[in-house]
Amino acid sequence: MSELRTVLVAGGTGFIGSHLCKFLQKNGYGIQVISRMPGPLNISWNDLSAKGLPDKIHAVINVAGQNVLDIKQRWTPGFKQNVYNSRINTNKILSNAIMNATKKPKVFITISGVGIYEPDSKKEYNEYSEVKGYDFLSKMCLDWEKAAFLEENPCRHVNIRSGVVLDRDGGMVQQLYLPFFFGLGGPVLPGSQYLPWIHMRDLCRMFLFCIENEKLNGILNGVAPQIISNSDFSEAFAKAMKRPTLIPVPEFMLNILLGRDRANMLTKGQRVYPKRAMDMGFSYKYPNIEDACREIVQKPSE
Ligand SMILES: NC(=O)c1ccc[n+]([C@@H]2O[C@H](COP(=O)([O-])OP(=O)(O)OC[C@H]3O[C@@H](n4cnc5c(N)ncnc54)[C@H](OP(=O)(O)O)[C@@H]3O)[C@@H](O)[C@H]2O)c1
Repeated sequence: MSELRTVLVAGGTGFIGSHLCKFLQKNGYGIQVISRMPGPLNISWNDLSAKGLPDKIHAVINVAGQNVLDIKQRWTPGFKQNVYNSRINTNKILSNAIMNATKKPKVFITISGVGIYEPDSKKEYNEYSEVKGYDFLSKMCLDWEKAAFLEENPCRHVNIRSGVVLDRDGGMVQQLYLPFFFGLGGPVLPGSQYLPWIHMRDLCRMFLFCIENEKLNGILNGVAPQIISNSDFSEAFAKAMKRPTLIPVPEFMLNILLGRDRANMLTKGQRVYPKRAMDMGFSYKYPNIEDACREIVQKPSE
């Protein structure tokens, strides 16, 4: 009988990480999680730094990071530092552990965000587009990706630049669910800004694709191929919930609530296409926002 392949998932307790762990387990992989919290499958960051990678790790994934859009947290220099360190330091610790491991994993997969691309109403970005830091969050994305650098290519490295991840029990949908449920939902103004998105199932499938496709290296845009605006999303979500889209969210309110840097993540958007992902043969289960929203709204909450 073949041995169970183990994937080490940093941030495996979070919204993306917990879905990913379940998905990989269903697909025949064993899981170990790196977390700041103790748990039966968990190892700590300190253990990882002191003892190195556990034995026989097939793939290493990092989806850790302090939640940027946590509205309980003010956008202070201290919080910005936490947001930055929780991404850059974790990628650095993992890449060092991989470089020092006697038996290397086959692949290291990291996540970053489409915020690396500068919002522009005309330009379409793909994985080959030039990127340069234009604000705090885009510079952080650049540093985040660089921190995963592996000297002398001990194994493959793939970085997924994810759009907004859609599922019922976390992220943007969880924040919007009640306002839309009570018929009080609407687009974030101006509404015409792009909203790069991906259904959680497709993001998990993309991680699996990166594990199993031995030719894959470099960047993949973790977005659906359908380019939509914030208003398109609101309409699709409201339609799936059988509710109207009545009350738009004004830009100034988000600027006050979140601070301009963070509000820009919602009030501005990038036109991002997953060219390389598609060229490499990745296919989507939810390429269309209406189907994605319907599935998310109709499935029982977990
Ligand atoms: N959700 C999205 O739409 C989206 C889109 C693009 C990119 N991303 C990126 O994907 C990653 C995961 O997103 P998510 O939505 O799953 O986030 P999440 O639910 O907040 O989970 C992130 C996990 O990171 C760990 N973490 C939090 N603060 C940390 C810190 N200061 N130091 C080390 N670890 C820390 C936590 O694990 P422990 O408490 O177990 O340590 C947590 O479970 C993030 O880096 C995020 O920026 C998310």
